[in-house]
Amino acid sequence: MCGIVGILGKSSVANNLVDALRRLEYRGYDSAGVATVEDGTLDRRRAEGKLRNLEKRLLAEPLAGRTGIGHTRWATHGRPIERNAHPHMTAKVSVVHNGIIENFRDLRAKLEAKGHRFETDTDTEAVVHLITDELDQSNDPVAAAHKALNQLQGAFALGIIFAGHDDLMIAARKGSPLAIGHGSGEMYLGSDAIALAPFTDAITYLEEGDWAVLHRSGADIYDRDGARIERPMIKAVASSLLVDKGNYRHFMAKEIHEQPEVISHTLANYLDMAAARVNFPDLGVDLANISRVTISACGTAYYAGLVAKYWIERFARLPVDIDVASEMRYRETPLPENGLAIFVSQSGETADTLATLRYCKANRQHVASIVNVRTSTIARESHAVLPTLAGPEIGVASTKAFTCQLSVLACLAIAIGRARGEIAPEQETALVTALTEVPRHVAAILRNEDIYLPVAQDLAKARDVLYLGRGSSFPIALEGALKLKEISYIHAEGYAAGELKHGPIALIDESVPVIVVAPEDELFEKTVSNLQEVAARGGQIILISDAPPEKAGCKLAAHIPMPVVDAFIAPLLYAVPIQLIAYQTAVQIGTDVDQPRNLAKSVTVE
Ligand code: M6R
Repeated sequence: MCGIVGILGKSSVANNLVDALRRLEYRGYDSAGVATVEDGTLDRRRAEGKLRNLEKRLLAEPLAGRTGIGHTRWATHGRPIERNAHPHMTAKVSVVHNGIIENFRDLRAKLEAKGHRFETDTDTEAVVHLITDELDQSNDPVAAAHKALNQLQGAFALGIIFAGHDDLMIAARKGSPLAIGHGSGEMYLGSDAIALAPFTDAITYLEEGDWAVLHRSGADIYDRDGARIERPMIKAVASSLLVDKGNYRHFMAKEIHEQPEVISHTLANYLDMAAARVNFPDLGVDLANISRVTISACGTAYYAGLVAKYWIERFARLPVDIDVASEMRYRETPLPENGLAIFVSQSGETADTLATLRYCKANRQHVASIVNVRTSTIARESHAVLPTLAGPEIGVASTKAFTCQLSVLACLAIAIGRARGEIAPEQETALVTALTEVPRHVAAILRNEDIYLPVAQDLAKARDVLYLGRGSSFPIALEGALKLKEISYIHAEGYAAGELKHGPIALIDESVPVIVVAPEDELFEKTVSNLQEVAARGGQIILISDAPPEKAGCKLAAHIPMPVVDAFIAPLLYAVPIQLIAYQTAVQIGTDVDQPRNLAKSVTVE
């Protein structure tokens, strides 16, 4: 997790860059750095560790310049040492970056073959040399940056300055947030508006795929197709400088769209991306000698745990017992020697989950919790804490917390499988590589949001909706039904697709939409058979799948196309369409999306 800032100022900017970075330190503090343009030349100061080390460095070696960028780092590629600290630069360009450049290895190989010398282990340095390479050919910084941006894959936010250009900064957003601040004859850039609060409250949020050319007089913004576009300037009020909705109508929409970034941060915490290995913290228990995993949680967090059951049993060949916390706490279930008990909770305060944790602890289980609030009671009472780095989740309907919980659980499944000798190094590489690609795929799914509108318009008229899925898609079907009912108040049920004929098929007629979560995996053909059963009874099928619609073998009311990916990561991706379907349906109906009736964000009673 990293924070980036930029200032086109009237006087020396180094100190203001550090002020802004201080407000972003929650995003990472492995190292920090600033770079400026002074007399046409780029220069920088960097320091390992917390921001105060950079401040000391700047006191000892001040940095002049009215144009600058800054960075506080959460290491993903390359150890947290000064050499890997941002800003990265050549004589021509300097870059700060938040996110992951997925194709950095390919880019680096090509650029090294052309004679570029790399000095760091980071993915970011490939961006610096790519832009330098374009500048070698055209010497037009805007054109060079644009050409380079078009070659980058991954989810990222970038701030770029150039030697010889004192009144120019380029910003780009693809999957990681970025805000532009408007001053009087000054312009600012920040990972969020909080960073810019000391300087300005006039904020423009870049949208997915946008890139911008900043001068002191203002910003020209372009969309992902290169068309000049206007984005609104809003006044950020003091309270909203803590947590605001940005350009979104609801927190839920904002949180859905934050997923590429927060998944990326969460994965970076548990993976060594450069080595394509899981880098799991010590849980205080020997993962090779666990006899059984017990998972407990409530609501959406329970469904994350249910996906993990499929992953852990499949990849680690270890039995997993799972139950909703409100049942497990009274079930008096016998618990094994050497058992690992895992609790999943966004808030970390859910009463039933906490009570079950205490039961498991009293019964000699080693307790690990996956929480979004690190200071929560569940975190404090656990032997080990595995944080999700989703950031504050305000919408009552859990979205980004869910996919971050899945991200941690996916890494845990690989870690247990490796410890037990069930996952060979090549398989680990393949699984980790697939996980690394999740933020990019999620960003791509979110770019296709318009296709959900007609589906939502139809669903808004329904009285009952069924969701079907098999294997690890079954919990996603359950989560889809929960999401829809909690914010749209439409009755919805999730079923294992094979269970359809054991009862629920009686509900199906022309008025019942059936949403089918069906990646084209080894179970796809079985699900297709269930589709035929629904179609034969007139059900309106909405198929979410990477398989082309013809493969359904029946008439579909709608087909939501998905990227073709390793089946392992499918739950992380298919979670997104079911969130968008629920959200857009609720918007059609006009419910209070962020605070639906009868619900609370943190359920501290049983
Ligand atoms: O804070 P927790 O994750 O422990 O909360 C558990 C459930 O209350 C929560 O997931 C709830 O189901 C959500 N509103 C679902 O969107």
